[in-house]
Amino acid sequence: MMFISIQQALDKKNGLVNIHGWVYRERKLKDKVFLVVRDSSNIVQCIVDEKKISKNSWKDANKLLIESSVEIQGNLYKDKRAPTGYEIEVKSLNVINFAEKYPITKDQSIEFLLDKRHLWLRSRKMTAILKIRSTVFGAIHEYFRKNDYYEFQSPIIIPGGAEEGPTLFDVNYFGKKLHLTQTWQFYAEAGIFALEKMYTIAPSFRAEKSKTTRHLTEYWHAEVEAAWLDLNGLIKVAEGLVKHVIKKVLKENKKDLELLERDVKKLETVAKKNFKIMTYDNALKILKQKYKISVPWGKDLRTIEENKLTENFDVPVFVTNYPKEAMAFYKPRDPKNPKTALCFDLIAPEGYGELIGGSQRDINVDELKKSLLKAGEKLKDYEFYFDTRKYGSIPHAGFGMGVERLISWICKLDNIKDAIPFPRTMLRYKP
Ligand code: 4AD
Ligand code: MG
Repeated sequence: MMFISIQQALDKKNGLVNIHGWVYRERKLKDKVFLVVRDSSNIVQCIVDEKKISKNSWKDANKLLIESSVEIQGNLYKDKRAPTGYEIEVKSLNVINFAEKYPITKDQSIEFLLDKRHLWLRSRKMTAILKIRSTVFGAIHEYFRKNDYYEFQSPIIIPGGAEEGPTLFDVNYFGKKLHLTQTWQFYAEAGIFALEKMYTIAPSFRAEKSKTTRHLTEYWHAEVEAAWLDLNGLIKVAEGLVKHVIKKVLKENKKDLELLERDVKKLETVAKKNFKIMTYDNALKILKQKYKISVPWGKDLRTIEENKLTENFDVPVFVTNYPKEAMAFYKPRDPKNPKTALCFDLIAPEGYGELIGGSQRDINVDELKKSLLKAGEKLKDYEFYFDTRKYGSIPHAGFGMGVERLISWICKLDNIKDAIPFPRTMLRYKP
């Protein structure tokens, strides 16, 4: 038998259809069984009438519980009362698997749903998010490839750190202590001498102890590194990337956004308008004048400050020129404002915080060494990095975007955990 998806059946509007899927809802009356059947594409109401079906099928229909898998042949017709506007009058019902009593019922706790994540993935909410996630990944690849970037992979198991020491996971590597990567960056800085423009989408790991709605310990990191690029050029790449992804989701995932009750006008605005760009100094001024929040110069912005700042805008905000001393060693001093670095964070609207962190890369080996020593690092661990500055060094820049941060914001999720199929946090590592 040839099957079509439920969406294809709905698009047909009438006639004989063969569908297969899972029982999403069931209601048993004396002489009729109402089934709502779902597949990955949509749901449809099916009506089993005792008078119009074989004895065996009638018996089977009465045994069906939620999530049983079924094949159905029947006549589809318009019915305004049905959840998706059409109904199928079942002619034949073939049960593939009689499901046991499904453990997930209405109104269960978030923790229970995370324990049952392997089943909860089938919910309409998770299905919608997963579809959007798939579009987001595809759109990131598309954006970079369209703009002549090569895809490049860096190792997951690494000898040293990169961002912050305390958030490094250890790996027992044949008795040696190695780590899981936090960023591809140092490998990418070597790779650009071959490929010039490169990107990746890969897992990054951070041993985050913080229990926030924005931190995972394993997340997908979309990173870019390019030769001959400066901060302004890099900012354009970041804005272009975010806009491209949003446009693609608006185009491909209308129904999913609707199911999630996402206000798409907010996303349409982001796709159209220019993003805001301001310096850290200006951000401090706004925080002081509008909110009476005084951040001591030199301190990184905290979440509440980022949220206050972005309240003022309906587009993401680039904050540039953070204090050099508070930044990772590879972010170079801005010659025009030497207390600050040539770097940016892109902060999402609607309270979703830092989406992207990026910078030009310091190519002054003496400055690099000074910053590393200040950070308590051993220079001999960075010999390979200095090599990238010794043989044809060039200006270059790059950034990293947390893909789940982006998905969280696009879907307006309460927690980043729902942006990834099987989330990992300090307390959540099963299933
Ligand atoms: O700002 P971060 O630490 O920057 C880097 O790792 C650079 N080396 C990237 C680069 O220049 N190639 O991380 C980049 C982004 C953050 O802006 C955030 O979106 C995301 O990664 N991120 C996390 N996402 C989820 N859970 C976490 N624990 C995250 N930590 C960072
Ligand atoms: Mg950052």
